[in-house]
Amino acid sequence: MEKILTSFIDVEAPHTIEVARAHGVYDGLKKSIGMDRDELIASFKASGLRGRGGAGFPCGVKMSFMPKDPSPQRPSYLICNADESEPGTFKDRVILEKNPHLLIEGMMISSYAMRCSCAFLYIRGEYGHAARVLFEAVEEARKAGFVGKNILGSGWDCDLVVHRGAAAYICGEETALMDSLEGGRGNPRLKPPFPAQAGLYGCPTTINNVETLSCLPYIVEHGPEAFAAIGRNERNTGPKLFAVSGHVKTPGVFELPMGIPLMELIEDVCGGMLRPDKKLKAVIPGGSSVPVLRAEECQDLPLDFDAVAERGSMFGSAAVMVMDETTDMVKVLARISHFYAHESCGQCTPCREGTPWLEKVLQRIARGGGREGDLALLDDMAARMMGTTICPLADAAAMPVRSFVEKFREEFEYYIKHGRSMVSAG
Ligand SMILES: Cc1cc2nc3c(=O)[nH]c(=O)nc-3n(C[C@H](O)[C@H](O)[C@H](O)COP(=O)(O)O)c2cc1C
Ligand code: SF4
Repeated sequence: MEKILTSFIDVEAPHTIEVARAHGVYDGLKKSIGMDRDELIASFKASGLRGRGGAGFPCGVKMSFMPKDPSPQRPSYLICNADESEPGTFKDRVILEKNPHLLIEGMMISSYAMRCSCAFLYIRGEYGHAARVLFEAVEEARKAGFVGKNILGSGWDCDLVVHRGAAAYICGEETALMDSLEGGRGNPRLKPPFPAQAGLYGCPTTINNVETLSCLPYIVEHGPEAFAAIGRNERNTGPKLFAVSGHVKTPGVFELPMGIPLMELIEDVCGGMLRPDKKLKAVIPGGSSVPVLRAEECQDLPLDFDAVAERGSMFGSAAVMVMDETTDMVKVLARISHFYAHESCGQCTPCREGTPWLEKVLQRIARGGGREGDLALLDDMAARMMGTTICPLADAAAMPVRSFVEKFREEFEYYIKHGRSMVSAG
């Protein structure tokens, strides 16, 4: 497949505007300005592009919720979500550090289509280098007339503000992100109202992931059909960045067509298992919050939104974590649960109380003090947390617990019975 998001990241200084322009970046923006805005949005719908932040909502459909008549009193905003904090996920970082102008171009195309007068880029606090690259890139784009007043002589004004977060995972949730951007504590908001009705500062807002926005220039330049021709089917289109980590020979970020089979990704793209004598045990296919898959469930599995859901997990952020037979699943789950307990914002009782309880019981099992009934307790707590809270963080904490305990039950039972791991007991 022709690379679209990472085509020139290996050349020298890919982040500079000179190199980016030499590779055609901003040609899509030039083409889109002057085009009919509703036709642009229709072409994004036709491309089949689905959000790359986790939920897979169709990008063009989301854009079409925005008002057609914003005013200075009630402007429309675009936010780019660059918070990227889900454990295992590091794909957006490649675009932020190495191809920032493609993202800026995508943001300006989206802002133009939605009649926005300001766009915000909210970047994860720990991404210091990426933030510095972006501050510089936005200034370069401003000087070149792609950002700011009277963009490319069109009479359209749109600023772009880069804002650094302060290292809270919950600020990746779109409404918490808006609270944080407004200067408050990052607390998720109840929906409705949805951001397109009342988002940032109470104004219509659309929020999209870094990778989603970076796909837009290609669609403008090559047409929605060319984009839709990449991928497994019309519901799962376009290129996709996969962040692969764990027990493979060459972990990293890979741009591949949506729907590449999981085993092809592990064996052909990542060089196979890290230690060839160790067998594949499990894969988390979409970031730490999604249900784990056993090795046998990984066979013949196209990696896209629908196929992974049909297999009982979620495509999520396409962060693929590979574990071989030496992995202690109890310890992995205890570590994941620690993360969610730490990151709960505390507004909802099932999440505020449930996430530390899950962690406590799992740590107890992992330390060798597990009790009879702990597995039923874990499942009961996790079931009560799901679907009962303001945002999906409680579900994100509960889903791995339920799937790990269900799929690797024998390991949990061994721990409870013998006070140690059956993996290390060999
Ligand atoms: C707890 C939590 C954390 C999230 N973190 C991120 C994130 O870091 N980056 C991201 O793009 N989306 C994240 N999301 C999803 C966003 O809320 C939102 O759906 C997404 O930015 C929409 O962009 P998309 O339509 O382009 O996928 C998170 C959601 C939740 C519930
Ligand atoms: S589910 Fe958890 S993180 Fe989300 S709003 Fe409720 S307490 Fe906060």
